[in-house]
Amino acid sequence: MIRAVAAALLFAGCLAAQTAPVPRIVAKDGRHALMVDGAPFLMLGAQANNSSAWPAMMPKVWPAIHALNANTLEIPIYWEQFEPEPGRFDTSTVDLLLKQAREHKVRLVFLWFGTWKNGSSHYTPMWMKRQRDRYPLIVGAKGRTVDSPSPHAPATLEADKRAFAAFMRHLKAVDPQRTVIMVQVENEPGSWGSIRDYSPAAQKLFDGPVPGELLSALGKQPGSWAQVFGADADEFFHAWSVARFVGQVAAAGKAEYPLPMYANAALRDPLKPGPPGSYESGGPTDNVIGIWKAAAPALDLVAPDIYMSDSARYLKVLELYHRPDNALFVPETGSSPAYARYFFSVLGNQGIGFSPFGVDYTGFSNAPLGAARMNEETLAQFALNYKVVGPMMREIAKLSFEGKVQAVAEEKETHSRTLDFGDWTAVVSYGTPGFGRGDNPRGNAEPTGRALVARLGPNEFLVTGLFCRVDFRNADSGKQREFLRVEEGAYANGVFKPSRLWNGDQTDWGLNFTSAPQVLRVTLGTF
Ligand code: DGJ
Repeated sequence: MIRAVAAALLFAGCLAAQTAPVPRIVAKDGRHALMVDGAPFLMLGAQANNSSAWPAMMPKVWPAIHALNANTLEIPIYWEQFEPEPGRFDTSTVDLLLKQAREHKVRLVFLWFGTWKNGSSHYTPMWMKRQRDRYPLIVGAKGRTVDSPSPHAPATLEADKRAFAAFMRHLKAVDPQRTVIMVQVENEPGSWGSIRDYSPAAQKLFDGPVPGELLSALGKQPGSWAQVFGADADEFFHAWSVARFVGQVAAAGKAEYPLPMYANAALRDPLKPGPPGSYESGGPTDNVIGIWKAAAPALDLVAPDIYMSDSARYLKVLELYHRPDNALFVPETGSSPAYARYFFSVLGNQGIGFSPFGVDYTGFSNAPLGAARMNEETLAQFALNYKVVGPMMREIAKLSFEGKVQAVAEEKETHSRTLDFGDWTAVVSYGTPGFGRGDNPRGNAEPTGRALVARLGPNEFLVTGLFCRVDFRNADSGKQREFLRVEEGAYANGVFKPSRLWNGDQTDWGLNFTSAPQVLRVTLGTF
């Protein structure tokens, strides 16, 4: 009898696994959701270091992922490992990563380190590197070979399409559980060291007409690249060429298994962009998002890798990549504590995921990015974010898709922010609060404050924060607000379970959040 029940359960489990819907990104009214297992999912991500996706390194990766309370690991798949000889695919690492991720109850985003990795082609297999005539690099304006693959090489494109398709085909076969929820196609594609390819083959295309698809997408009149785009021609030509290539690789993979796919960008300065050539050229920088959309429709989104810790730039980048036609996702960001609070800014911009970079205990430290040696102490501020939001990530993702979430992070010199919900406004004051009337906090010593407010009903809000105070004003009536009930609790299986009521010192001057991960359901009235 027990055996029969066990067999039936196993069968039901297999059936459920087989029928788990394929993750996808959906859009409605200009907002987006990453659907995983049929419901909106918020990716609390962490990306491992570049050389950490080897079996011997994984024991140093998982503890950091757990210390962070992450629900998703972003980790590379190296083309050189996956296809050591032409046409022979080694799926052992993919399989191992899947198995371990399931054991650790963590989802995966695989990063296809294919033709491009940070503008170069260092992850292509050795058999390709040894045939540069067949798999060429680009040529700079002065005729010098540049360490960046040519997007005009048919053999490179075909090889990448074939390998990526094999990878996606395998994934489809071995992942009915949908452990993998997204795939990054290439890594920071584009070129450093030249704005475009000046090889004779590329020059011929550059002198030819701008493709009709791009003209109609951008509403331009026909002409050569120089005629249509003037001073931007070199850069836009390269963006089109790289995006066209990446889009075809993505399409070949999607034909096998249609997981959400994206390309990531090495950014240009969003406030004072330097001239073309001073940043990586050809990737999905903010000025060419439209070109990428037209050239690579198989990609679901383009995503910013944000390594600028000042809030003016950080927030501008979020604004530029949060578009009705582009779900906001931050697949990489600095892992020094100063970046942690921006998780809330991402939520405030309807982001579907966030991921600090270089999260593992392999001992690597990327000093120029300000990342101190990775340990629990340096990860603490990020861990706190995910500890607060993790248990309710499904609810937050759903509320966000419905347009009901507002969230902010402290900016230097700005001590307070007002969130407009129409009839109610929420006032966030940064700093660890004191208790006197009018004694609103005046900022933290370092900007660490963050808050999230989501509307649950007419006079009901979900509120959480760290190092700040949140209070409400009734904008409609001008009457004074009254906390009718403030429940601290947590979501369990979609239901908010209160553990206590806040009152007295905890509510008399506003809702005071320290470093304790606390979530409140607040019912408001007026008098
Ligand atoms: C951005 C790249 O996408 C990452 O793979 C990594 O190289 C970081 N820069 C820097 O460590």
